Amino acid sequence: MARLDRATALYPGSFDPVHNGHMDIILRARRVFGRVVVGVATNIEKRTMFSAEERVSMLRGATAGYRGVEVQAFDGLTVDFARRIGARVIVKGLRAMMDFEFELKMAAMNKRLEPDIETVFMMTSPEYAYLSSTLIREVSQFGGSVAGLVPPAVERRLRQVARSARKVSR
Ligand code: PNS
Repeated sequence: MARLDRATALYPGSFDPVHNGHMDIILRARRVFGRVVVGVATNIEKRTMFSAEERVSMLRGATAGYRGVEVQAFDGLTVDFARRIGARVIVKGLRAMMDFEFELKMAAMNKRLEPDIETVFMMTSPEYAYLSSTLIREVSQFGGSVAGLVPPAVERRLRQVARSARKVSR
């Protein structure tokens, strides 16, 4: 049995943008696993607000100085990327009921694709249970404050985007 503190875990997502619920999972995963690779999916179906490069750069900024945490972009299947980086564990955050069905399907499909890789769920901390990148984008686009909900550099970038969108629509 591999020791968890020497194991690599992959935390995949779209991170559009990263918020404090994600940061909480990254920190907690790092307490369990020796190396946590945050995988930024680039070939996702949904249209993103931020380019892959920006999503990676915001995450790198937010996790700078976190020992044992790396941020990498990937395309293709999550399980293929997990195998390439030597991760036998995929970590996902679970927010109460809203994520369960979708995450269960993804975990089952990933297990079928790659039986040696386990998906491990961490319950989102209660203070972040309502947070999602979709809500963050929406609130900030309409001029609401997301201070304290995202890393400070992400908040600044969101404010910039909202300001330029307002200029364009004037
Ligand atoms: O943050 P998200 O949008 O919930 O992340 C979803 C993500 C990126 C983890 C998922 O869409 C994914 O794994 N995409 C990569 C392609 C893939 O492996 N698809 C099959 C999943 S069963």
